[in-house]
Amino acid sequence: MRQVIIAGNWKMNASKEVTNILVMDILSGMVNVKSKVIVCVPFPYMAQVEALVGCSQLNLGAQDLNINKSGAFTGEVSVDMIKDFGARYVIVGHSERRSLYFENNEIVAQKVQVALNNNLTPLLCIGELLEERNSGKTQEVVSEQIQTVIDLVGIDAFKDIIVAYEPVWAIGTGITATPKQAQDIHSFIRSILAKHDENVSKITPILYGGSMNPRNASELINCKDIDGGLIGGASLKAQDFLQICKAS
Ligand code: PGA
Repeated sequence: MRQVIIAGNWKMNASKEVTNILVMDILSGMVNVKSKVIVCVPFPYMAQVEALVGCSQLNLGAQDLNINKSGAFTGEVSVDMIKDFGARYVIVGHSERRSLYFENNEIVAQKVQVALNNNLTPLLCIGELLEERNSGKTQEVVSEQIQTVIDLVGIDAFKDIIVAYEPVWAIGTGITATPKQAQDIHSFIRSILAKHDENVSKITPILYGGSMNPRNASELINCKDIDGGLIGGASLKAQDFLQICKAS
């Protein structure tokens, strides 16, 4: 059975003070949480979160990485730097990176490869735009996004990848995919993996992301092929985030 994973994506939010309160509140509410819980925080707060989480069951992640080891890449952050702060997870290919920073499928695949080669677990985000859904292209888009990664890293690597299906029209909009819409695509993604390797398809976690909140989390997470959530807005409110963590 796949473990439920709940990952918070703080995006470009927080401050030292907010980080302190948010992490302390999450930690104190985690007693009965059985899911794996990850918080992907802005780079400047990683050291602070590393110190706060200590050896608790709260895991630290980053929101992006640069594919180079080090050097003249102003403003960028390498995997070694991310690992230096005890992080074991990194979001790759978030739709905001794809649309605002022009990351295409090939760049995203390279980032997945660099993360894996350096023992960081990538949370690989895929998902279609509203126009693509409306013109019946959802499966085509999602399958191209995932296939580019399979082509570069191989299907076996998906044992160490967390996939996050995030329909772009649901991110930050308050419009959540219905459990059926989400389950249909999750099962489609799993079928793509299964075409390459049946066993890998059974163990790869596929999270749903896009306006998940305490009210809709349980119905989504209880779908057969939905193994948890990647949470944006609701991960900035400790009580909402904790409720989602307990929703499975
Ligand atoms: P949201 O963001 O929960 O605010 O819709 C999800 C995401 O961007 O990962």
